[in-house]
Amino acid sequence: MSPQEKAAAIAGRKGAAPIAALTCYDYPMARLLDAADIDILLVGDSLGMVVLGYPDTTHVTLAHVLHHLEAVVRAQPRALVIADLPIDTYKTPEQALETARKLAAAGADAVKLEGGLRQAEKVRAITAAGIPVCGHLGMLPQRVLEEGGYCKKGKTPEQTKDILEGAEALIAAGVFAIILESVTPAASREITAAIPVPTIGIGCGEGICDGEIAVVTDLLGSFPWFVPPFAKPENDLAAATIAAARKYVARVSGGR
Ligand code: KIV
Repeated sequence: MSPQEKAAAIAGRKGAAPIAALTCYDYPMARLLDAADIDILLVGDSLGMVVLGYPDTTHVTLAHVLHHLEAVVRAQPRALVIADLPIDTYKTPEQALETARKLAAAGADAVKLEGGLRQAEKVRAITAAGIPVCGHLGMLPQRVLEEGGYCKKGKTPEQTKDILEGAEALIAAGVFAIILESVTPAASREITAAIPVPTIGIGCGEGICDGEIAVVTDLLGSFPWFVPPFAKPENDLAAATIAAARKYVARVSGGR
């Protein structure tokens, strides 16, 4: 399937089959998650925090995303691979298109950028070039320094209206799906019902959006130093890793 067909297939799941998406940053994880029939692999800029050890996503560069995207793409996943446009790489429609072209050339099926109304022209420039775009509304991690923290969105009718207006502008510009991050369940339900493209939620309450996305380290319990309150780990790989390494240390040093 072409990237456009893959994105259209995700768009066609609106109100039908829920979409399961995870972040992914390397080759082995791409193979493992693809074997689990994940629909979308997002090479998200969360890699700055959970792989590279930065305090937030504002330190992530295009070179970082390209490096991890190339590793994911080497696994030739069946899933739709989305790559994030890092902060400061989409300040104008021209720059947004140039960045999206580099990500597509490295194997991304689609790209994602954060924000609504003010990003519509950039989204239009990218979709007009044939590269599928996923939107990202609600809490926007690239604005964490401006906003002074990670704040829940959709708490008032005005905030919900802002998100809806942003969604409508992104849809008019051609996005095939929109990630909603940390939006209240009530607002997420209202937005999901109002728009014709799938919403994919994180921190919005499960079963409310058309799909869910999770940061893979939250699912696996492999990054215990920052676990968002909404994370539902299915494993404790941090403890398993320490236990395995301890066994190895004991085995190696056992004879001495
Ligand atoms: O970078 C990322 O992991 C994301 C998800 C939180 C949606 O954008």
